[in-house]
Amino acid sequence: MITKKIFGNPIATYAVTKNVPETRELKYFSLETTKGTLRFTCNLTPKELVYGLGETMGRVNKRGGRYISFNTDTADHTDSNPSLYASHNLLLFPDRGFGVFFDTPGKVTFEIDYKNSGMVLVLCETENLTLYQMENDNIYALNREFLAAIGAAYLPPLWAFGYGQSRFGYKCEADFLEVADRYQKAGIPLDYICMDIDYMDRYIDFTVHPQRFPDLKAFVDTMKARGIRLVPIVDAGIKVEPGNPVYEEGVKNNHFCRNKDGGLFQAGVWPGMTHFPDFLRPETRKWFGEQYRFYTERGIEGFWNDMNEPAIFYSEYTKGPRKLGFVLDILFPKARKAKKERDLIRDYQSFYHQVDGKSVCHYDVHNLYGANMTRASSEGLETLMNKRFLLFSRSSYIGAGRYGGIWTGDNSSTWEHLKLNLRHMASVNMCGFLYSGADTGGFMGNCSRELLLRWLAVSVFTPLMRNHSSMGTRNQEAYQFGDPEAFRSIISLRYRLLPYLYSEYMKAALGNDLFIKPLSYLFPKDEKVRHIEDQLMVGCSIMMTPIIEEGKVERTVYVPEFMTMVHYDGKDFTCTPCQPGEMTIHAELNEVVFFIRENRLVPIGKPITNSREVDFENLQLLGDGRRYALYADDGTSRECSLEKVIILEKNFSK
Ligand code: GLC
Repeated sequence: MITKKIFGNPIATYAVTKNVPETRELKYFSLETTKGTLRFTCNLTPKELVYGLGETMGRVNKRGGRYISFNTDTADHTDSNPSLYASHNLLLFPDRGFGVFFDTPGKVTFEIDYKNSGMVLVLCETENLTLYQMENDNIYALNREFLAAIGAAYLPPLWAFGYGQSRFGYKCEADFLEVADRYQKAGIPLDYICMDIDYMDRYIDFTVHPQRFPDLKAFVDTMKARGIRLVPIVDAGIKVEPGNPVYEEGVKNNHFCRNKDGGLFQAGVWPGMTHFPDFLRPETRKWFGEQYRFYTERGIEGFWNDMNEPAIFYSEYTKGPRKLGFVLDILFPKARKAKKERDLIRDYQSFYHQVDGKSVCHYDVHNLYGANMTRASSEGLETLMNKRFLLFSRSSYIGAGRYGGIWTGDNSSTWEHLKLNLRHMASVNMCGFLYSGADTGGFMGNCSRELLLRWLAVSVFTPLMRNHSSMGTRNQEAYQFGDPEAFRSIISLRYRLLPYLYSEYMKAALGNDLFIKPLSYLFPKDEKVRHIEDQLMVGCSIMMTPIIEEGKVERTVYVPEFMTMVHYDGKDFTCTPCQPGEMTIHAELNEVVFFIRENRLVPIGKPITNSREVDFENLQLLGDGRRYALYADDGTSRECSLEKVIILEKNFSK
């Protein structure tokens, strides 16, 4: 049961699409109002779990942390950093059977048993808020009700479940050809290569570097013929440059955010000074979405939207060479961080959007910016293309999961961030971001062979499986670490699981379900699963149990019910029935061990090297179930419905 309580006069965020009855009653929390703030508090029982908050630091159980929803371009993914790129203001209280969504686009601070306070504090920097209150003893059912209220999740094409390679540093056709050739030579599957900002002419959106890509359309076609799609990045800001048609049109038709005095706001990002499209205006969203024609005309079918917090390297208030901000951050981390935060707030307070004809300060609606960029491109692509497209964004707000996926930004090549990736997957799914993933192998820093293999073995189970790294770090493609055999082995599992992963994703998205969920959702009565965060349910049949410690080939797994253990070595799947309880599993670097729930099946395809070879008809069924409900289609058409599900029966010969 969901109800909403409205405070003041909130602006529409479009997070919730379903009609929800209004109530006057404030449940669960006490409220203190001061000028400009709403301060909610509630006591926690000593051991209860608190879930939610999507893309934030900390664990899946958010107790003990302080988190601030204020979308930030930050590579500091440590527990002392309260803000990442997204704002997902959902709190779930599984033990008391309720949940609350604080729907407001400004800054919100959450303290959850912070410093052992024994309470939850939610401080909203506004008097205008829609508070969604939900009740259900079964938290999984409650979460699904919430997902139904925010609308069905984005449906990517089948190829978006393939493996992708990316790097900030690929510049020209030759770089992309080399990646494709070397993957092919190593016999490692690949479906797409991301084009980072160097494909553009001086980092200007909707342009392509004339010398590096003399004929992008022809190049896209050549690559596609090999089964490899090119996925360009699109940044939020439009370079201030007379003569650039997108800039000129944007100025002429009033599409950019303005200063208080009515002039156009400027901020320095990759291309130098840019204007920020006012994505909160429907006209601007339509205009921006139409610009993707530049790519679709050239045969491109996938995109990643970046810098849409929006990131600001410098502005007229914050002069100085902040273009290399992230390098300076490493040299003088604390001082730069404090200055950057102050400067950024000042920047965000100095420009304005038009919302329903009224001027609204960016600071007050900050967290909606990236979400509306995603919406703009998604709606644009729907009109430009007659099939499904790949789209993922860095910044987001709840509700944007209807329009596209997310990736979790500039992480590092550390074991800690591999663990964070795992935790994020559970939390962002709770908030409706089903298509998600991290930079596999880590963006900053140098990835070791072992870390990359273990990270790939996690990414095998996340919808977005993309290896991405920054320039200046060691080359991180799967063929860069000597003998590619182990990489071939792990990535081949992804392709053998494609029928399952695709089918489970589509059923989840069409059925208001999570794709990845914590064990406690399925075994709510089992005390032992409450704090397990390194085993997750993937779809309805698989429990993933990755090895995420350096130097280890074994780990303890808690098996909550009778299950089938599956050991994959790059060729064969060895299935072993397991009793409930603790057990030790063993997986060398080229191996993966996962589990299948009792009475369930997992369809496995033949070995392939590209998603276009997926054969939904010749499937092997692993597990002890009798039936599997398979969602299969051509992988691109828009007509997706649960009616396409067919039942596969397992014939038991033994
Ligand atoms: C940002 C993105 C990163 C990208 C870089 C250059 O840091 O998060 O993924 O490679 O910009 O475009």
